[in-house]
Amino acid sequence: MSIMKKVVDTVAHVMPDRERDRLTDQHRYLGKPIDRLDGRVKVTGAAQFSAEYPIAGLLYAALAYSTISKGVIKNIDTNAAEHAPGVVKVVTHLNAPEMKVPKPFSVQGDGSAGTTEIKILNTDKISWNGQPVAIVIADSEDRAEYAASLINVTYAVERGMNSFEEAISHAKKPKQIFGEDPEITKGDPDAAFKSATHRVDLRFKTPAYNHNAIEPHATIAAWDGDDKVTLYDTSQFTVGTANSLAEVFGLKKENVRVISTFVGGGFGGKGGVWAYNQLAVLAARMTGRPVRLALTREGVFRIIGGRTPSQQRVAIASNASGHISAFIHEGVTAQSTDNYFPEQFSFPPRHLYTMPAYRIGQEICEVNRVANTFMRAPGESIGTFAVESAMDALSYELQLDPIEFRMRNEPEKDPVSGNEFSSRHMREAYGLGAEKFGWKNRPAVVRSQRDGDWLIGQGVATGTYPMYRMVTAARVRISADGTALIESSAQEMGMGTETVQTQHAAELLGLSMEKVKFEYGDSTLPWAGVAGGSSQTVSIALAVQQASEKLLTELLSFAQQDSNSVLKGAKAIDVRMANEGIFRKEQPSLGETYAAILKRAKKDFVVAEHKTGAPLETLKYSMHSYAAQFCEVRVHEQTGEVRINRWVGAFDVGRILNPKTALSQFRGGIIMGIGMALTEETIFDDRTGRIINGTLAEYHLPVQADVPHIDIVYTNIPDPHTPMGAHGIGEIPITGVAAAVANAIYHATGKRLTSLPITLDKIL
Ligand code: MOS
Repeated sequence: MSIMKKVVDTVAHVMPDRERDRLTDQHRYLGKPIDRLDGRVKVTGAAQFSAEYPIAGLLYAALAYSTISKGVIKNIDTNAAEHAPGVVKVVTHLNAPEMKVPKPFSVQGDGSAGTTEIKILNTDKISWNGQPVAIVIADSEDRAEYAASLINVTYAVERGMNSFEEAISHAKKPKQIFGEDPEITKGDPDAAFKSATHRVDLRFKTPAYNHNAIEPHATIAAWDGDDKVTLYDTSQFTVGTANSLAEVFGLKKENVRVISTFVGGGFGGKGGVWAYNQLAVLAARMTGRPVRLALTREGVFRIIGGRTPSQQRVAIASNASGHISAFIHEGVTAQSTDNYFPEQFSFPPRHLYTMPAYRIGQEICEVNRVANTFMRAPGESIGTFAVESAMDALSYELQLDPIEFRMRNEPEKDPVSGNEFSSRHMREAYGLGAEKFGWKNRPAVVRSQRDGDWLIGQGVATGTYPMYRMVTAARVRISADGTALIESSAQEMGMGTETVQTQHAAELLGLSMEKVKFEYGDSTLPWAGVAGGSSQTVSIALAVQQASEKLLTELLSFAQQDSNSVLKGAKAIDVRMANEGIFRKEQPSLGETYAAILKRAKKDFVVAEHKTGAPLETLKYSMHSYAAQFCEVRVHEQTGEVRINRWVGAFDVGRILNPKTALSQFRGGIIMGIGMALTEETIFDDRTGRIINGTLAEYHLPVQADVPHIDIVYTNIPDPHTPMGAHGIGEIPITGVAAAVANAIYHATGKRLTSLPITLDKIL
């Protein structure tokens, strides 16, 4: 780290000069509430999602899933399935050709997007209940599903590690957690805790959760000969999926193409190669026909992992003046026997509060379950539940306002690394939120507000999520007709990617949005990092900025060749892209349009591609997004029913690029957090390891009636060290939500609920 830090300190500009200029400009498009460019095709049904591509000669595949969590297949009877109507082929471990196991997902790495390190269909070993044991290909989806139901498997059953509670006794400290130490300590936190005058020591439980994107996973795979394949896939990471599948099938990387234009939500569940897309490719190869494999909702529960369960302890001590003297956060999560994903719940407190002594760390244990994976704010969502509930409890112990207690412990620098914050305006966020919510009217005493049988309470919690940036490429083309084309392999997953990238490019190039086209959703386009870690918007934008720098230089060199050009003698630093061309900064009326420059140079277009460097800025600065979540609940005294009455989310996330699309992101994240707090839970049967509520009838997502009006406010203070001054906003809104709910319930009832979801049986 220290060598890297030296390198970083010697980097003169992490962000290009021109970007700094633009931070002070008046913005034509950035920050404006512009309608979604993909809105019309979506509401009219014209947008094609993966399963909907009209491919000629399509066959349909369905999976049969293991019903045990551990053991060996003794016999698999496919006779009835093979003779069922419309069945073209049945593939099991007995006749599946050998496939390689893809390398596990790596965030900054080589584009692998594998999720498990287990062989799929190339083994008779079972390691989770739901593992695919056969794939049936038929002339219709119903016939494939029916035939799959006829497959009869007998197993030599072994005792699986089905229970998280039981697995915890085998928990171990992992070597690292996404590059961070699994445990960090300073001073003697236990001694400091014991000797403190004010302290809380609480234990928390969070269950497994599933993403439940509205669009279940689907792939259409079509081979072109023996060595080229195209997938129409529900992917958050087109290039990663393509590269991993190339590895699996021993193909050249450029011979696997993943098309993923519109994705109906992912939340981390579509970041990689899972059995469905791998087996669709296999099925298409074995039948010589294009094959569609669209998972049922149950299928998603069986083979796509979600968020791991956790148990956490948070012990915080404070002196009488409300300053933290000891901070302990520890606990354990589960991962499957075949993947690596230690959900990083211990990350948030590493950056939140001033702590003279601390121990923050986590362990991991293994279970026979489907591989867990990224799910919206992995780590921070469940970590903030524990930390911010404990902070709330200690504020009552101190008889201090919960916001005031947090502000007294607001750090000047990152409390662990000692780095400067790139941009941190927690006080402003709390101020805005408190104002909007009317926090000052809240009585300090618990259980002091009532409306008939309903107890009323208000709670707050801090949310936090890191600022990530991925290595990402983009191609920018400016044509002689004065239009521009931006190309990126990213997909439109609902966040407003197309809209915001078009806004940014139009502003950067000095064009109207109508003259800019953003081409996306295809792995053959320039590399976009995964739409994960709330990183994609800024990652693509920086690549576009840097590619545009190259174009500016090239266009300027064309202008230099004409001694009559008003740009003669100008250097790149003297000019800017504006008004459809290049103009002098000092004399903004002096310049030439792209069309004029290109026409004279006898070029139809100029094009440049750029791949950004590693995110060194995140080593130099402590870079995070922040939220202050305000919740009011009503709790029914007799039934324990909880209703969220109102919500204010206050965010400090740099510049807001499009208030309209941002509002949806914020509200969506808070709604997902309300589900996490009150209703959602993936329930495993400890006897069999099977998920027993794998349907939306039994896995309770919040519906319209569960969601109150949600007000959103934000600081809108640009971070000087990020592209466009922006942070990602996909994950921050879910963080802190569950704690704000639990804290409001405490304020209403005097009961501290530490186990999610907070169902009414726990309240009574
Ligand atoms: Mo997200 S969990 O990084 O899709």
